[in-house]
Amino acid sequence: MTTLILTKPDDMHLHLRDGDAMRSILPHTVRRFARAIVMPNLRPPIATTAQAIAYRERILSALPPESAFEPLMTLYLTDNTAPAEIVRARESGVVHAVKYYPAGATTNSDSGVTDIARCHGVLEAMERTGLPLLVHGEVTAAEVDVFDRERVFIDQVLVPLVARFTRLKVVVEHITTREAVRFVTAMPANVAATITAHHLLLNRNALFSAGVRPHHYCLPILKREVHRVALVEAALSGNPKFFLGTDSAPHSRAAKECVCGCAGVYTAHAAIELYAEAFGANDGLDRLEAFASAYGAHFYGLARNRDSLSLERRSWQVPEELELGSERLVPFRAGESVAWSIV
Ligand code: NCD
Ligand code: ZN
Repeated sequence: MTTLILTKPDDMHLHLRDGDAMRSILPHTVRRFARAIVMPNLRPPIATTAQAIAYRERILSALPPESAFEPLMTLYLTDNTAPAEIVRARESGVVHAVKYYPAGATTNSDSGVTDIARCHGVLEAMERTGLPLLVHGEVTAAEVDVFDRERVFIDQVLVPLVARFTRLKVVVEHITTREAVRFVTAMPANVAATITAHHLLLNRNALFSAGVRPHHYCLPILKREVHRVALVEAALSGNPKFFLGTDSAPHSRAAKECVCGCAGVYTAHAAIELYAEAFGANDGLDRLEAFASAYGAHFYGLARNRDSLSLERRSWQVPEELELGSERLVPFRAGESVAWSIV
């Protein structure tokens, strides 16, 4: 198969940032995706419906003319989020989920939740209104190994959470382990997961191939090969609980290549092409469309997109750098090739 025609996909986990940085990266996503779930981890975070509405307006005004791209907004859950805010968010029609970052787990998560027990009133409101909870599933305790943080989070936080809020829609974001695949598979249909392209393509050796590779550093961190294989199996399984979310997370070259480099891999410039590579490498191209264009929309209660996107098996060279506002970023596969192109 050399050509693939897909219903235009949705990116169910994306970091768009703001201002000039957003304006320079937005075209990459718009070219490939009809909609995206936009992460709220700005500084300050998007913690209220009013902030989400204003952020959405900034995204819309940065779109290329005639673009029908639809940003699907999220709220950033804090210890102080009020249940009334959930009702406002739901009624707004533009907020599609609430993001739970354990405080300190990742980039711009210092206003995150210190103890999910503080949010039980909010979770009840979400369960009642049907607003999904998107989870960054990593514990932050210093004594827990960075490669074990997702597995421990599942046991310590997620298992009790889904047992208590049995009708709450939950997306375990950017899963990276076999244990997460098993957990999500075993849960009822209200629990789903997103999978990134880079976690389908790389194992943790990519962090240290012939030297340390800051541009492969993201959170949750890349894991062993057995885990990558489990993610590939989940993505290709045809199980609608697993769908596309790139977690494309731009940081400037300077912020990545320094003594304390930021977490985040930028894939938006080649996102669907990279997924096509991962699916193609595992004889699964026939299952890409459902993973990329159907299951996520269904979980979020959205109609399927009407536009389509054509890909062909033709390789192209990724630039060494791309613009990020007044700075530059190093994209995934910089200076190397990607096997699929958009027609
Ligand atoms: C994300 C970012 O840079 O905003 N970084 C990352 O490594 N994935 C935050 C996140 O989603 O964890
Ligand atoms: Zn993310």
